[in-house]
Amino acid sequence: MPVLATGGAGYVGSSAVRCLLAKGYDVFAYDSLIKGHRQSLPAERLIIGELADKNRLVQVMRDRKIDAVMHFAAFISVGESTERPLEYYHNNIVNSLTLLEAMQEADVKKIVFSSTAAVYAPITEGALQEDSPKNPDSPYAFSKYAIERLIADFSRAYGLGYTILRYFNACGASPDGRYGEDHDPETHLIPLVLRVPLGQRKKIGIFGRDYPTPDGTCIRDYIHVDDLADAHRRALEAMPSGRGSIYNIGTGTGHSVLEVIRTAEEVTGQKIACEDLPRRNGDTTRLVAGSEKLRKELGWAPTYQNLHDIIESAWRWHRNHPDGYGKN
Ligand SMILES: NC(=O)c1ccc[n+]([C@@H]2O[C@H](COP(=O)([O-])OP(=O)(O)OC[C@H]3O[C@@H](n4cnc5c(N)ncnc54)[C@H](O)[C@@H]3O)[C@@H](O)[C@H]2O)c1
Repeated sequence: MPVLATGGAGYVGSSAVRCLLAKGYDVFAYDSLIKGHRQSLPAERLIIGELADKNRLVQVMRDRKIDAVMHFAAFISVGESTERPLEYYHNNIVNSLTLLEAMQEADVKKIVFSSTAAVYAPITEGALQEDSPKNPDSPYAFSKYAIERLIADFSRAYGLGYTILRYFNACGASPDGRYGEDHDPETHLIPLVLRVPLGQRKKIGIFGRDYPTPDGTCIRDYIHVDDLADAHRRALEAMPSGRGSIYNIGTGTGHSVLEVIRTAEEVTGQKIACEDLPRRNGDTTRLVAGSEKLRKELGWAPTYQNLHDIIESAWRWHRNHPDGYGKN
């Protein structure tokens, strides 16, 4: 089954491409490299292209006889999206519509879409289920929720098969330490924490210690990037034609900011300096995935069950690549 992965040179997309290649799939990344890294996947598997270029997309899908699309390409920062909504709505919503139109023209009938836990309304205990109340309150979250809707409407009207995967906090690196997280700007907690023992920053800011959690810091569900990749493969293999499903992907266990910092200290053997800062706009107390549906229906289970192993994999990558992938 030939597969096209938009954003396939990015952090999660390249992990999925490598996972599919290992399983014998004929998969190509389609990426403009605006944020991605050519070193994150085999050169012959990368097609450099812009999502806004519908004709190119149609041509690539026809030439490669693409059967299914995995749609990772997007701008991904909640904070940046509130400052630059035009760019976020344009790249995420308008360009996704272009992709769907190209798929229609090339008669590609299957899509797996990267959505986010940021679509949900805040909770203070328990786990989020796929039908929990929604409140996508940043332009980033709203753009993702809007694309979910576009895809569902295309399915109803044109018979598109789809799987929407709502990721919680993607993290970690490949076990051999060759591939890992390299965002610019980096906003994710684990790579930022590890910059302290790497000597790249003096301390890590803790945004709020007065949340209603046991240690007062926010709780998130950290899911290893290779476990996300495996869920994509399963979603593709199980996808019914003409219908769709939505799944959360997380471990189901939450960890506080302080737990992440303490675990990073254990892994690196170094003390990590912290600084208390005021709460940030838009941060919610708790984001933990109810992932029973994914486990039951797709037989998925996370290989990385504990935070120590996840941070250890990330540390191996960052220690070997203190400047990430380097120049493209
Ligand atoms: N990283 C996370 O924790 C997380 C959590 C929830 C959802 N997601 C979603 O997962 C997806 C992948 O996230 P990531 O962390 O790998 O991000 P990333 O920035 O590493 O990857 C995105 C890729 O898309 C490419 N891209 C962006 N706009 C493009 C365009 N117009 N044309 C062609 N290529 C374009 C970039 O060059 C980059 O390689 C995103 O859709 C994101 O919203 C990520």
